[in-house]
Amino acid sequence: MFPKIIITIDGFSSCGKSTLAKQLAQKLHYTYIDSGAMYRAITLYFLRNNIDRSNEKEIRHALQDISLEFILNKHSGNSEIYLNGENVEYIIRDLVVAEKVSEVAALKDVRAFAVAAQQKMGIDKGIVMDGRDIGTVVFPDAEVKIFMVADEAVRVERRFAEMFDKNPNISLDEIKTNIAMRDYIDSNRKVSPLRKADDAIELDNTHLTEKQQLDFALKLVRKVCEPVL
Ligand code: DC
Repeated sequence: MFPKIIITIDGFSSCGKSTLAKQLAQKLHYTYIDSGAMYRAITLYFLRNNIDRSNEKEIRHALQDISLEFILNKHSGNSEIYLNGENVEYIIRDLVVAEKVSEVAALKDVRAFAVAAQQKMGIDKGIVMDGRDIGTVVFPDAEVKIFMVADEAVRVERRFAEMFDKNPNISLDEIKTNIAMRDYIDSNRKVSPLRKADDAIELDNTHLTEKQQLDFALKLVRKVCEPVL
């Protein structure tokens, strides 16, 4: 059995973090947690319930009514997010949510709520979690930290291909604008802005295949685990 450690993968939008995180978790028999899905599900709740993002009392009240859970989909082998018992894994990928999520994720009460839940999920280790602040704030003592980067044009193409399947009316420009806006807000917000942890290893996957990036990450993991293997 592979030793249980915590692996964090942070980076800008559409760098391929979740692809790597899922494959790594599968290979190591770890749990994969998509922390972005939590912020997206909270955003969906706020949109559906017209929560006023400038009203702290209303936000705190709303958060008390939110329960988030990841449940394994046995067919796909991936865990999917449930908001108050409803599977919202697909609806949270919509552009309507993507357009608001960075603003919601910048709210300090929202972050405290999500970070506490994420830390709880890591208690038994054996997890791969991706996001923006996982190596810096959620698990500053994680054994392996990866910071992913990729050229902007490649990121836009990848997200476009992913979104086009669900919404053929979407344009490359819309995707480009959304990614640029989220990168800006995520990197410049007051609470836990996106940044590379000092001890994170940068992985630029602009010219890498999925297999090459997985091999790179597995090498890092083996290096850390070797003494106990
Ligand atoms: O990874 P993603 O694109 O699904 O994330 C959606 C948004 O959530 C992203 O624009 C920033 C925010 N986010 C965050 O602030 N902190 C995280 N740990 C994960 C995501």
